Amino acid sequence: MKRDDLGATPFGGNKVRALEFLLAGVREGDRVVTVGSAGSTHALAVATYASQLGARTIVGRWRQEMNETAERVAARLDRTAHETRLFAYPPGAYLWAWTRARGARWIAAGGSTPLGVLGHVNAGLELAEQITSDEIPSPAMVVVPLGTGGTAAGLALAFAIAGLDVKVVGVRVVPWIVGRRGRVLRLARRTAALIEGKTGLKVPVVGRDAVLVVNDAYGGAYGRETVAARAAAERLADATGGAVRLDATYSAKAFEVALRLASRESVLFWLTFDPRLLEPR
Ligand SMILES: Cc1ncc(COP(=O)(O)O)c(C=O)c1O
Repeated sequence: MKRDDLGATPFGGNKVRALEFLLAGVREGDRVVTVGSAGSTHALAVATYASQLGARTIVGRWRQEMNETAERVAARLDRTAHETRLFAYPPGAYLWAWTRARGARWIAAGGSTPLGVLGHVNAGLELAEQITSDEIPSPAMVVVPLGTGGTAAGLALAFAIAGLDVKVVGVRVVPWIVGRRGRVLRLARRTAALIEGKTGLKVPVVGRDAVLVVNDAYGGAYGRETVAARAAAERLADATGGAVRLDATYSAKAFEVALRLASRESVLFWLTFDPRLLEPR
């Protein structure tokens, strides 16, 4: 398991990786606008870290099926963001235009733009270094939840850059229209173009077979807890003496698939969720 939750304080996880780039240059008094579902970890990460930089944060939200983690994240987001607005549907284009008109910084849903994906490329290169320095053996696959696809795209691109034959398995936890292999590959291509444009270096292409999507863990709605994922999360919590607890929307579903695949292949589970978010605060 890659403990990507340990990378930041007050909480880490995959969404914080992207913010290294997306919040670069934000100064005291700036305004930062993003969107997410009611219990969005991405929106909470933006609100938390932009506030630390002294910015004012505005979040457009929409309803989702709630679970324990989503409730906790939503409550924390209420306390952290300066302003939140509830929309009936994802307000992407409308809020983007509003943000532009007011000179605020716009951060797209999930932070999954080529600039944000650079953070996940760095995360993948970090793993590549751990493998090449023999700190850990090379897994056949890395299993990660698949939402807006930035994490899967960045990891796949990093493994291509590092020349590692490691597949990225994205466990879809969102409707198929959002969580598709084609979207992940496109994001990886656009991120490669960004790196090439900035550095002049040639970046390898992520092959179609380097990314696999698992569709059967979703449960039929974003945020809906499944029995299998809950059981897998309980096994991990028991095995770690309660130290690693998973969220029902993303990481528990991915871990359930990781356990299934691990009976046949060497699997690395990418822990994208920080259990500190489950602590009362
Ligand atoms: C804990 C957690 N894991 C995984 C994901 C999915 O990552 P991505 O949107 O990059 O696919 C998210 C997205 O919010 C998340 O909060």
